[in-house]
Amino acid sequence: TESSVKPRGALIVLEGLDRSGKSTQCAKLLSFLNGLGHPTELWRFPDRETSVGQMISAYLSNKSQLDDHTIHLLFSANRWEKRSLMEEKLKTGTTLIVDRYSYSGVAFSSAKGLDIDWCKAPEIGLLAPDSVLYLDISPERAAERGGYGDERYERVEFQKKVADFYQTLGDSSWKIINASDAMEEVEKKIQQVVLDQVKECTEGKPLSLLWS
Ligand code: TMP
Ligand code: MG
Repeated sequence: TESSVKPRGALIVLEGLDRSGKSTQCAKLLSFLNGLGHPTELWRFPDRETSVGQMISAYLSNKSQLDDHTIHLLFSANRWEKRSLMEEKLKTGTTLIVDRYSYSGVAFSSAKGLDIDWCKAPEIGLLAPDSVLYLDISPERAAERGGYGDERYERVEFQKKVADFYQTLGDSSWKIINASDAMEEVEKKIQQVVLDQVKECTEGKPLSLLWS
């Protein structure tokens, strides 16, 4: 039968510890997909451009202090304020590569000692990713890469706790990518996973919601 419905875009999320190489790989993936003619945008959370994002940025750079629950809800609000645009982009055929999402929200706040179910609650109803790619690197190895800035959370001991919570959150659908491999190797693995996913979405895979 004839269909006038445009194939939707895929929601691809990259997660991992600080210095796992997410931002580099996101940029490479963006040019790869665009090069193949797939309309694609690169998003990141926190999105520091919005007014909520500016509060988050001030907190991360230690220019402001906030209660742990409060900053958790701001990170979540920062995703909610982009939710309708995200849905519109996907439904009109744009694939979104997202550098961090709800899993960062839950892993980092739980690592501070907040209850994991409490952390998940405000994420319920956000769009669920079609693929989560976890860039797997040990906290020690990530730290060797250097480049930890002065931002909050960029400490090895804390990142170890975050890694444990990522492990709790991940399920069999996550694609675990060895991020200690050479950059080109990582790039190729990501491309394979993402091409499969983009195809599934083109073929009518429905959008779903967190937390599932
Ligand atoms: P970035 O380095 O990717 O910009 O992220 C800034 C820090 O914020 C990083 O250490 C992870 C943390 N984070 C949270 O604690 N909660 C969240 O919801 C997100 C998206 C990031
Ligand atoms: Mg950072």
